[in-house]
Amino acid sequence: MKGIILAGGLGTRLYPCTRVTNKHLLPVYNKPMIYYPLEALIKLGITDLMIVTGGHYAGDFLKLLGNGKEFGLKHLNYTFQEREGGIAEALSLCEHFVGEDSMVVILGDNIFEKTLVRAYQKFLNKGAKGALICLKEVEDAQRFGVAEFDGNNKLLRIIEKPTTPPTNFAVTGAYMYDKTVFHYIKKCKPSERGELEITDVNNFYIQDGLMDYHIIDGWWSDAGTFDSLLRASTLVQQTGANND
Ligand code: DAU
Repeated sequence: MKGIILAGGLGTRLYPCTRVTNKHLLPVYNKPMIYYPLEALIKLGITDLMIVTGGHYAGDFLKLLGNGKEFGLKHLNYTFQEREGGIAEALSLCEHFVGEDSMVVILGDNIFEKTLVRAYQKFLNKGAKGALICLKEVEDAQRFGVAEFDGNNKLLRIIEKPTTPPTNFAVTGAYMYDKTVFHYIKKCKPSERGELEITDVNNFYIQDGLMDYHIIDGWWSDAGTFDSLLRASTLVQQTGANND
């Protein structure tokens, strides 16, 4: 199993702070943001890891993390996304790294109170084939990808940042895929914001009947805006993150 952290992009929503550093190196309470997704993957027992960086100050990731010794790792892989082409584009850079394997992908600005062990077990139980997304009920669903279900709780589709969300179930930034993901990414066209959207990729899996979902326990927060960064810091201060 491969683990991937997507930490590209310019972090423009955190200007001016992200003019002088990379968003994923900013502190969330007492640690740099990137530590949280890294620890989340390591808690799943995944040690073959790739960090996709990009934008400004990408070299600082290497200074901070090196080969991951602090996390008990022997080696860390890095790759560079040349422009802010979207989450799916960042993931496409990992095709060679993943090879025939499956993968757990976590967005570099996503923080989870609890480990993702239960979701991961569900993915492993289906042979780590197809895909699995992690959902969480939130109050501000319009900020995220949002899940729509039929009357039997079957996942119908994901809508990216809907003005009127059909449910309050946000798609968190923890995704589990088999290698078919790279085939689906190649089918994606840039969205209105000029990005290859992970939501389009997830909808391809749904259409082909290959997507499962898991509703996660504990709080979840992104940290890509000033409000969510503050919220994430406060939550981490109160409970810690990636708890068993
Ligand atoms: O946080 C979960 C949400 O993340 C999902 O609910 C949405 O469906 C998904 O589209 C995404 O929404 P955002 O618009 O909040 O994503 P953002 O552009 O802030 O990017 C989140 C992380 O993804 C960022 O910290 C680094 C990585 N990323 C993003 C872009 C645009 C890349 O590695 N490369 C990129 O080009």
